[in-house]
Amino acid sequence: MIDTHCHIYQEYYDDIPKVINEIKNAGVEKIIVNGCDMKSNLEVLKLVKEYDCVYGAIGFHPTELDDNIDNNLSWLNDHINDNKIVALGEIGLDYHYDSTDKNKQIIYFKKQLEIASKNKKPVIVHTRDAIQDTYDILSCYDVSGSIHAFSGSKEMAREFIKLGFYIGIGGVSTYKNAKNIISVIEDISLAYILLETDSPYLTPVPYRGQTNSPAYLPIIAKKIGDIKNVSYADVIRVTTDNAFSLFDF
Ligand code: NI
Repeated sequence: MIDTHCHIYQEYYDDIPKVINEIKNAGVEKIIVNGCDMKSNLEVLKLVKEYDCVYGAIGFHPTELDDNIDNNLSWLNDHINDNKIVALGEIGLDYHYDSTDKNKQIIYFKKQLEIASKNKKPVIVHTRDAIQDTYDILSCYDVSGSIHAFSGSKEMAREFIKLGFYIGIGGVSTYKNAKNIISVIEDISLAYILLETDSPYLTPVPYRGQTNSPAYLPIIAKKIGDIKNVSYADVIRVTTDNAFSLFDF
């Protein structure tokens, strides 16, 4: 079982060795820690060296963009092929806040997609209130990846799958108001689903309200099995295969 999207930073976890132990005990064999800005990206490079089970994605998140674009992109270019860095992420578009500079987000997103395409790395995509722009931009690049914490319609999910993307499913699927994501999970094949927690955010029920952990990934696997009426073992087997096809571990 592989957590394809989480943020295990010191800022959120006092005792990272303890979290890593809990992850292993829960049967989660690998996690992909995603960076969001320079500080967290540097932490990702450190974590992948410290822990066998930790792999990394580095990138600049749409709500964490600064004006050092040239510096940031050249740093990304220099490190994207480092050992155990398996993707560019977390990158994307987020139009949720009125203060958003859409233009800056789009420039950063496109430049990072160029780096991914040039280096044949998958991308881990964040998209909030921006799904059509995200789709239109991704369709211009020769990239594959994951649409993390997917919140669009089942029709949109199918379109992203046609582009070569997987759909990242996490704790939201366990929430009371999860109708939309449940209809997506019912509709698409398990062959296009990736498990993720987005820890420390989006904690699944019954732990909602507490800090999330990749150790809760089995809850999400079980929920997907219940929704699709397939066994827990099959959910784990297929989604793990999916992660291995997308990411070069
Ligand atoms: Ni995230």
